[in-house]
Amino acid sequence: MELTYQIDQIAVTVQGDEANEFTTGDAVVLAKAYDDLILEQSWGAEGYTIVDAQEAFDFTEVKRDITKILRSIIAELSPTTDVNGFSLERYHHYVDDAMHYAVIGKTRRLYPQDFGFDEQRLVGFLSRLLGTDLGYMNPVFKANQWIIVRINRPHTVGYNPIHKDIYELHDGFGDIPRMANVWIPICGVEGRTGLPIAPCSHLVPEDQVSRTKAGSVMEGQRYSVNCIETWGGDNQLQTMCPNQGEMLVFSSHLIHGLGRNHHDDTTRISLEFRLYEQAEN
Ligand SMILES: [Fe+2]
Repeated sequence: MELTYQIDQIAVTVQGDEANEFTTGDAVVLAKAYDDLILEQSWGAEGYTIVDAQEAFDFTEVKRDITKILRSIIAELSPTTDVNGFSLERYHHYVDDAMHYAVIGKTRRLYPQDFGFDEQRLVGFLSRLLGTDLGYMNPVFKANQWIIVRINRPHTVGYNPIHKDIYELHDGFGDIPRMANVWIPICGVEGRTGLPIAPCSHLVPEDQVSRTKAGSVMEGQRYSVNCIETWGGDNQLQTMCPNQGEMLVFSSHLIHGLGRNHHDDTTRISLEFRLYEQAEN
């Protein structure tokens, strides 16, 4: 089956799969039922904000760390590849499909200590922004959440279906902690190449959200996340393109995905992670 969305008023159709089973839930707004942290913010009704992140991190430092990480992963996987002129924007010149999948196998689970930048400064900034103590510790898993370096080569699949992050915890563990999604553009994020989100979609009751459980199939690939077809009869998304040195902070209940790379010769790279409210001790 085909899935159609309006992204920035342009119709986008992706191929779903017979394996996707769409259902709706109860007449409840999960963001309200689980006391979403974002609802307490002045921008809580929209569910997202773009903030100047100069106090949170040094963009040059973060980009340098990611360049170093990717260069060494490529050098390790393929010792014969000359990585001297390597840059993030031209990443796709250094990898074929097989190599790319080997690289993202490593970059989808990185931890703060894998980077050199001052991540405590970043966590402190976000804690002040959202008015509570945040950290990487997922209180449901009792383990530290990872950071993803998301790499999208030009004109390739590999972006997530339209989804909500909370469903994995809701469906699998019957709980949704207070948390927030953070998305930081590193390179190739401009024009139509950003992150599409559906503002206000975290307030649509579940009986109006048609969606699968985790493990949806799109364009022949299986994804760990769920897939949402429509919400409140809507299928519209808006692409967010924060500038370098800015970041997008949004509710984990907000609908987002299909971050396609429309560039011809620039790889798109972003940092993605979630922070959780830490229990008071
Ligand atoms: Fe997500």
